Amino acid sequence: MASPRVLSGIQPTADSFHLGNYLGAVRQYVAMQEGYDAFYCVVDLHAITVEYQAEVLRRRSRVAAAQLFAAGLDPDRSTVFVQSHVREHTELAWVLICLTGMGEAGRMTQFKDKSARYGEGSTGVGLFTYPILQAADILLYQANKVPVGADQKQHLELTRDLAQRFNHRFGETFTLPEPYIVKGVEKITDLQDPLAKMSKSSSSPAGILDLLEQPGPLRKKIMRAVTDTGSEIVFDEENKPGIANLLRIQSALTGTPIPELEARYAGQGYGTFKKDVAEAVEETFAPIRERTEKLLADEAALDRMLAAGAVKARAVAAETMEKVRDRAGFLPVA
Ligand code: TRP
Repeated sequence: MASPRVLSGIQPTADSFHLGNYLGAVRQYVAMQEGYDAFYCVVDLHAITVEYQAEVLRRRSRVAAAQLFAAGLDPDRSTVFVQSHVREHTELAWVLICLTGMGEAGRMTQFKDKSARYGEGSTGVGLFTYPILQAADILLYQANKVPVGADQKQHLELTRDLAQRFNHRFGETFTLPEPYIVKGVEKITDLQDPLAKMSKSSSSPAGILDLLEQPGPLRKKIMRAVTDTGSEIVFDEENKPGIANLLRIQSALTGTPIPELEARYAGQGYGTFKKDVAEAVEETFAPIRERTEKLLADEAALDRMLAAGAVKARAVAAETMEKVRDRAGFLPVA
């Protein structure tokens, strides 16, 4: 039997992925190469739903792809590609847009949050239809599992609803996908504001650990991370959210369960613990940073890897889209 299919997308909206992206998504992508037929997509079409600059987007798309390869995605095992290279994404999105209710799209909390943040005047229609494009990404590849953060659950629900609606109206066409939410790292938070998610759009630079950042600044940020009163290293989400976050990070990076870390650091101060966290972060980030730099040094070679990914992705997307065109009643090209 064929392996189940996994698909995920990651936005090229920053000059580096951060620790939250790495633990919540990228590391999971790498793990899921084992046992899954994996498709991973740099979603540049999603990145243009907010204001952007063309040259910056182009650079960030390459940087995003390079980091994915550098983190361990193997182009012989996974299909790594850029969304805009596969025209079927926008084509299917249109069909799905026409099946979506205004109220249904308007209920998406991420849309409500983002449009509130940017203000009505600068909220584009693209932001409104963003989740429907995401549904197209997923359904084109008949994905069974979609590794995403907990904040994407609602978009996955919409994807399933749209798949079911199309299947019901036009005949079985799409596989119903399930979210795959990574446990334990849902809450990597801002180092300066440990109650807020680590996020490029809301954290200050001091609160974010970037995968491509140099060791010096990384260490400094960890040593300066907001901790809590007291001096004990215990996992207490409510009273010690800063230490809880660092424990979560250390545990995820070293594979040591949190209770074991608590025991190890009993009686030691925050300083020793933070130094170890910094070391674990650097050990993980350094090889990825170095490989990313190498990949970016030869843009032509990187672009060829992405072109090969696009060929593989297109083959699957074209097959689905052909069915969709036929079932939805479009005339064949004679
Ligand atoms: N919306 C997702 C996020 O912000 C990114 C994304 C776009 C995605 N298309 C996707 C995730 C398809 C999973 C599958 O994280």
